[in-house]
Amino acid sequence: MPRPGRRQLLFGLPAIGLGAAALAGCSQAGATVDVDQILSISLNQTETHPSFVALTRFGELLAESTDGRWGARIYANEALGAQQEVIQLVSDGSVDMAVISSPQVENLSLRFRPMNLPGAFDSIEHQMTVLQDESIVGELFASLEPDKRLRVLGGFTQGARHMYTKDGPIRTPDDLAGMKIRVQESDVFLELIRAMGASPTPMSYGEVYTALQAGVLDGAENNEVSYVTQRHDEIAPHFSLTSHLVGLDYVVANVDRLETMSEADQEAFTQSFRGAQQEFVRLWTQETDASTQTMLDNGVEITEPDAAAFGERIEEVARGFLDTEEDVALYEQIRAVATETGEDA
Ligand code: GCU
Repeated sequence: MPRPGRRQLLFGLPAIGLGAAALAGCSQAGATVDVDQILSISLNQTETHPSFVALTRFGELLAESTDGRWGARIYANEALGAQQEVIQLVSDGSVDMAVISSPQVENLSLRFRPMNLPGAFDSIEHQMTVLQDESIVGELFASLEPDKRLRVLGGFTQGARHMYTKDGPIRTPDDLAGMKIRVQESDVFLELIRAMGASPTPMSYGEVYTALQAGVLDGAENNEVSYVTQRHDEIAPHFSLTSHLVGLDYVVANVDRLETMSEADQEAFTQSFRGAQQEFVRLWTQETDASTQTMLDNGVEITEPDAAAFGERIEEVARGFLDTEEDVALYEQIRAVATETGEDA
């Protein structure tokens, strides 16, 4: 399918990426140069998205800290495939690393599901605290290594996800009746969108623009940054702040490829990834605000929905997916962090 074109100089992000690259003297946008070995990284976002900028930084840090033995090249815009296929490619070693949305990791292992439930995370800060807590995520993130050869390195937040439609505004679940809303391919998302009153249509990210345009979809759901970078605002200009879930992208890598590195280089890899994560957090709020401004400038109608009407239905979805004792234990651990950090539990 044809891909949406890229908005020129959106948020000035390309300038940030290129500026950092020029300073480091070792990369072009999205690819380190003059290094012995390049790690391929698959991404389904544009070059203007914070994930691309943060991963570019990762490549630079890696090249610097391994004296040019290792670098990275980011393949943006689903060039290597949609996440559902790419996670298999990283597992079999054809691709070295990828950014994979939490529902796709859940499809590989249901152990990850509690991290993907609505209500699990109250905020980005809460989510980041959980991600850095080894006692909660350490074993989980290593659990795909033996069978799938995948290591979860950490995550980039997706922030709060909201609903948007071609016809609107959306204030209550009744406003969504009969509407076909695109969802990520996952049982939780299917159920969540049904509970919110709409008809869910699973589809990969890169297909959404043309499906909206063709009328196959009435709307979709995502954060402000994706909505703007994918140019969905051009076709679905009614954006309702439903905040139905704080989403998470995992960054995964093929273990066998990592193990070809010396121990010192593996340590440099880990530290470089931490640097990229910090870069991502720094950019995220800034780019969410910039996207909101772009939405307003482009005439998007931003609606405050009836939070209570959606809230009750959303909470029930989470309860329905806590199947095993292990699920309940992980979900409770996540929620306990919210209580500890003083957030609404
Ligand atoms: C966000 C997320 C992506 C995901 C996308 C989606 O943009 O960062 O990783 O693929 O949502 O809705 O599919």
